[in-house]
Amino acid sequence: MKYNFDEIVDRRNTDSYKWDSCEQGVLPMWVADMDFRTAPCIVEALQKRVAHGIFGYTKVPESYYDSVVNWFKNRHGWNNLQKEWILYTSGVVPAISVVIKAFTQPGDQVIVQTPVYNCFFSSIRNNGCEIVENKLLYKDQTYTMDFEDLERKVANPKAKLLLLCNPHNPAGRVWTREELIRLGDICIRHDVLVVSDEIHCEFVNPGYKYVPFASISEEMQHHSITCNAPSKAFNTAGLQIANIISDNPDYRQKIDRAININEVCDVNPFGVIALQAAYTDEGAEWLRQLNDYLCSNYNYLKNYFEQEIPQFPVIKLEGTYLAWVDCSVVLAKRTNGSSLSHCGLDAPHLSIEDYLLKHQQVLVNDGSMYGDDHFIRINLACPRQRLEEGMKRIVEGLKELS
Ligand SMILES: Cc1ncc(COP(=O)(O)O)c(C=O)c1O
Repeated sequence: MKYNFDEIVDRRNTDSYKWDSCEQGVLPMWVADMDFRTAPCIVEALQKRVAHGIFGYTKVPESYYDSVVNWFKNRHGWNNLQKEWILYTSGVVPAISVVIKAFTQPGDQVIVQTPVYNCFFSSIRNNGCEIVENKLLYKDQTYTMDFEDLERKVANPKAKLLLLCNPHNPAGRVWTREELIRLGDICIRHDVLVVSDEIHCEFVNPGYKYVPFASISEEMQHHSITCNAPSKAFNTAGLQIANIISDNPDYRQKIDRAININEVCDVNPFGVIALQAAYTDEGAEWLRQLNDYLCSNYNYLKNYFEQEIPQFPVIKLEGTYLAWVDCSVVLAKRTNGSSLSHCGLDAPHLSIEDYLLKHQQVLVNDGSMYGDDHFIRINLACPRQRLEEGMKRIVEGLKELS
């Protein structure tokens, strides 16, 4: 079956956080959800469940765990994954928060590789821990890990966890096996636990391969906790379900305790049904076609930028649907003291995001959220027609700024 990702679905007035947080006329290209309907196999499974009409407390069935195990074994080569290793909770952010609670004391350090998904920062702070940055190295429109810096950071006895984002939002990297092994070796040597957020694992452009961190070796598996969910890939974030996976029964006991302390132990029937419908052959085929579509959207965006405003490089996107655009040229102008008053970015705190919203009615995410205000992040998971409109607005705004 051929799925139609060109279809324009009106999301206004559906209580969509992405759409209904913006005024009429604004084109939202910010928060990471997609403007596509989810896979028909998921919609059908949910419709059947809705028709039953009773939505009491949910008991997660054995078949749910089978779905997770089979999917990660067959699709991603995590061959020894066991059902008993899987704990569920209401989202990947709650999962990360729970893991931080389980393995740290207030005052401990948690390492993040910046720029990175903003909720990592809040989860660390909310648990009373200190954020330690192991900044990614940016060169030739891509990012690599700074292993020497990481060696120094993990050597601090207060460092307890490293939050890995695999694939990485917003750096767009799908980490290679070699990079993951090097990172894992460093963390294991210093007894720092790797917490791997793999929510973006299904979005991989041709030529790259997602490697579940824990699948690399038994040693990596023992020294890591994996957090994953079908929600990003299948556009079901509102259904709220995610997994926390560990092969270590003592770790699982600690995590289970923290899940209960944070009171995120209840999930809803729709999340459970949706995951099982998603992790099927039909779901996989839908994903294959979606990835093709997203890849061509990325190529369109990149070419458009290169032709119109080459002074704003778009980083190489190996995975995710979030384009990360280098706007250093604008910031350099401000730092040099040139007047930007003609374009309205002279106010010290007016960000590029603010400017594009005010002058072009398009909402993107400012890089400052992720730890680098030289960038903006653009969500390109939308029908091509919408992307084209968004590109016009963004490029027009950035031209004004540069
Ligand atoms: C890296 C990463 N982790 C977690 C999340 C959110 O997960 P959830 O909605 O399951 O809490 C996002 C959403 O964009 C993300 O990019």
